[in-house]
Amino acid sequence: MALPSRVKIVEVSPRDGLQNEKEFVPTDIKVELINRLSAAGFPNVEAASFVSPKWVPQMADGADVMARIERRPGTIYSVLTPNMKGFEGALAAGADEIVIFGAASEAFSQKNINCSIAESIARFEPVVQAAREAGMRVRGSISCALGCPYQGEVPVEAVVDVAQRYLAMQVDEIDVADTIGVGTPQRVRDVMTAVTRVVNPAHVSGHFHDTYGQALANILAALETGISIFHTSVAGLGGCPYAKGATGNVATEDVLYMLRGLDIDTGVDFDAVVDIGQWMSAHLNRKGSSRAGNAIAAKRAA
Ligand code: HMG
Ligand code: MG
Repeated sequence: MALPSRVKIVEVSPRDGLQNEKEFVPTDIKVELINRLSAAGFPNVEAASFVSPKWVPQMADGADVMARIERRPGTIYSVLTPNMKGFEGALAAGADEIVIFGAASEAFSQKNINCSIAESIARFEPVVQAAREAGMRVRGSISCALGCPYQGEVPVEAVVDVAQRYLAMQVDEIDVADTIGVGTPQRVRDVMTAVTRVVNPAHVSGHFHDTYGQALANILAALETGISIFHTSVAGLGGCPYAKGATGNVATEDVLYMLRGLDIDTGVDFDAVVDIGQWMSAHLNRKGSSRAGNAIAAKRAA
């Protein structure tokens, strides 16, 4: 299949990138990160989570973050909402898009959101309905679509099953997520091919963590199956508190560098993203994990 000429990048570092940071990242820094990402041209920034602050303390300031960011016209600001309480927070914050987040693995569903897959779907239904009535976009994320830290193998049918339940709720976009970065390109092809038999590929995204170094190859495999939306995190920040040992999302800089080489447009300013990655890593007091970002920064310094 011919590769798409344009790809939508959803920048998830303010949420997925920071949620697992042990030290609380000041609200000012989160706001600056989001503002800089919007200014760099990202069409979609995942800005916050409206989840229990006891479960994920780093995301406790979501309402403040949302109140203080500058909204760039053309950027969609998304927030995670596991239930109606989360939705109420998202509505009050004026989020453009909510993200319901289920899993293709029962064990992960229990650990992450404290309920079964079926219970999660029942919880999401009123959330999606309320969001649609409020004119908000809705995204449905499927964790552990390529493997589970508790259960191991996850059958392709389990991923398709959750996708069909989301489709029945009329979500706008469905994220196929490799929470722990275990997928390899053939498996990605199999899962994406199966999902896009039931969901229009224009509405499916790939969310790849890079734990096993497979994320760029997995994105290329997904592109070849017709997927044109990907989630990335500047400097490769991130990890899930309920997936021990899993590292961050694929680094935005690395994906932009690969896409530029493939002549695929994203509308994002690559040099600005390199700067953001270096700035954020300096703030967190460590070297970022983007190979392309670090290479360019080293070249600039030489
Ligand atoms: P629970 O304990 O079963 O919920 O947690 P509950 O309804 O019994 O409520 C317990 C307490 O939480 C109550 O407070 C509620 O008010 C409060 P208390 O009376 O004890 O003081 N509460 C809330 N507070 C704020 N916002 C809310 C909310 N809901 C309840 N929305 C719950 C269930 C889902 C809330 C909990 O399990 C939770 O918050 N989990 C967080 C999960 C999370 O954020 N995980 C990381 C994001 S998912 C991810 O990273 C994967 C992804 O990137 C894709 C991939 O890579 O796979 C998306
Ligand atoms: Mg994730």
